[in-house]
Amino acid sequence: MNTREMQDEILRLKEENDICILVHAYESHDIWEVADFMGDSYGLSLKAAEAPQKTIIMCGVRFMAETVKILSPDKRVILANPLAGCAMADQLDVPKLSALKEQYPGYTVVAYINTTSELKTICDVCVTSSSAPKIIGNLDAKDILFVPDQNLGSWIAKKIPDKNIQLIDGCCPVHACSITAKAAAEAKALHPDALLLVHPESLPEVSAQADYAGSTTGIMDFAKKSDAKEFIIGTENSIVQHLQFECPDKKFYPLSKNCVCDDMRLTTLADVYQCCLGIAGEEIVLSDDVMTKARKCIDTMIELG
Ligand code: 13P
Ligand code: SF4
Repeated sequence: MNTREMQDEILRLKEENDICILVHAYESHDIWEVADFMGDSYGLSLKAAEAPQKTIIMCGVRFMAETVKILSPDKRVILANPLAGCAMADQLDVPKLSALKEQYPGYTVVAYINTTSELKTICDVCVTSSSAPKIIGNLDAKDILFVPDQNLGSWIAKKIPDKNIQLIDGCCPVHACSITAKAAAEAKALHPDALLLVHPESLPEVSAQADYAGSTTGIMDFAKKSDAKEFIIGTENSIVQHLQFECPDKKFYPLSKNCVCDDMRLTTLADVYQCCLGIAGEEIVLSDDVMTKARKCIDTMIELG
C-alpha cells in the first residue's frame, strides 16, 4: 500500500467506524491530511469536547489523549502510538508538587497542560501556551505557582507583570536544550530579512530576540498572514515543513536542526491505519476520581480562556 492508498483507507474506515482523528500540529503532513481537526493543545482540547463520533484517535502525545478522555468520558479515546509521552510532563509527579504546595501555601497552582492527568488533580487550573496570559490574567489570585515549564512561565510573567509568578525547575528539553541564544543571533545575522518566530517553551534569552512568540498554530498563523517572505522557526522542525507546504512562495529556516521531539515523531500513518482497524493504539483508561478532579482544572481553563 502506498501513502495515498493508506490515507484513502483511513478516510473510508473512519467513516465506517464513526471515528474522529485529532492531530497535533507537530505530527507529519501525511497524518495531517487524514485529520478531522489539526491544531495546538488548546484547539485540540476544545475540539475534544465537541466531536460527535464515538471513537477519537489522538495523534500526539499521552497528556493530549488524557485531556481528550477527561473532556469526553463516554467516548473511546485511543492514543495512536502508546509510546508517545512528553519529557516535560514526566518531570513533575504528585509527591513533588505536593511538597512544592507546602512550600508556597496560599498560592494558586497553575499547571501547563503538558502534565499528567494525576498531576492535574491537585492543580487549580491548567493553561496552554496560547491561552496562558489571558487565563492567568483573569484569575483573582495574585500569587501563582506555575508548573512545570520555567521558560513558558517566565514568558507569561513578562506579559502580566502585576501577578507574582513563582517558577520551578522544569522545561521542555527539546526547546530548551536545542535552541540557544547564540544560535538565534547567528540565524538572524545569516538571514537578515527573516522574522524570528519561536515557541515560548524556548529559553527567555531566545524568546527575547523573537519577532513573535506563541503556540504552534500561533506561529503558523503569524507566518501565513505576514507580509514578510522569510522566517526562522524556533520550534519543532515539523512546523518548518508544514509552513513550507502551506506557503510555497515564502522561505522557512529551522533555528536548530536538533529541535526534534522524538515523542511526536513516533506516530506514523501506519499506526493511524491500524488504529482504525482496531489492532493498534492504546485505549486511555483513567479512574473516576482522576477524571473528576482533573476535569475541574481543565474546565476552569476553558471557562477562563
Ligand atoms: P502547543 O500548545 O503550542 O500546541 O504546544 C504543545 C507542545 O507540546 C509544544 O512543545
Ligand atoms: Fe513535550 Fe517538548 Fe515534545 Fe512538546 S516538544 S511534547 S513539551 S517534549
